[in-house]
Amino acid sequence: MKTSTFITASLMLAAASAIPAVADANSVSIVQKIAPKSNACAGGEFPDECATADQATSALIQSFIEYNIVTPGEQSALISLMAFETGDFKYVRNHYPAPGRPGQGCRNMMMPEFVAEYAKAKYPSITTTDPGALLNEVIKQGGEWGAASWFYTTKCSDAVKQGLKSGSKAGFSAFITDCVGTTATDERLNNWSVAAKAVGLASV
Ligand SMILES: *[C@@H]1O[C@H](CO)[C@@H](O)[C@H](O)[C@H]1NC(C)=O
Repeated sequence: MKTSTFITASLMLAAASAIPAVADANSVSIVQKIAPKSNACAGGEFPDECATADQATSALIQSFIEYNIVTPGEQSALISLMAFETGDFKYVRNHYPAPGRPGQGCRNMMMPEFVAEYAKAKYPSITTTDPGALLNEVIKQGGEWGAASWFYTTKCSDAVKQGLKSGSKAGFSAFITDCVGTTATDERLNNWSVAAKAVGLASV
């Protein structure tokens, strides 16, 4: 299986020895290619929700290690989805159309019912059932970056997973339509092609 250039050998080694993964310059530059506007947060509309590639990368790596998401097809799909859903990590709560849907969020913009299910599985100390408060707690406990990996692992079929692992555009398209449940627009597909190249998939 082709390995991704995103999680480098040294980071895998750190994971195997249970040392927290620290983003290296190579990984940060890959995230910047996938989310070009994540180079800076200045001047954004939701400054307290914005994260730069520098801030995002180690959390992304940690979540991929936790859920064993190691192929370039899967990693490019998940990072590309998060960048697409958040304007390159500019926000973590749903704002559009205004005033936004309370409780929808994390970096993959999950619907409130999935945020609740994620919290139940991962953050059992959260007891509130108010969607907005629940999302705030998940964010406070550090769950915003792992949500996409949790959703993919828990909600996507084996066929979708095989498709993403294959690294094909058809595989990405099936992930968007059959698992995420939305339309595989040209914009999403083109964004993914950029992401796939960034993690080392040559022929997309
Ligand atoms: C994703 O698509 C939007 C709109 O076409 C574009 O502005 C953005 O640069 C794209 N991102 C990448 C990584 O290609």
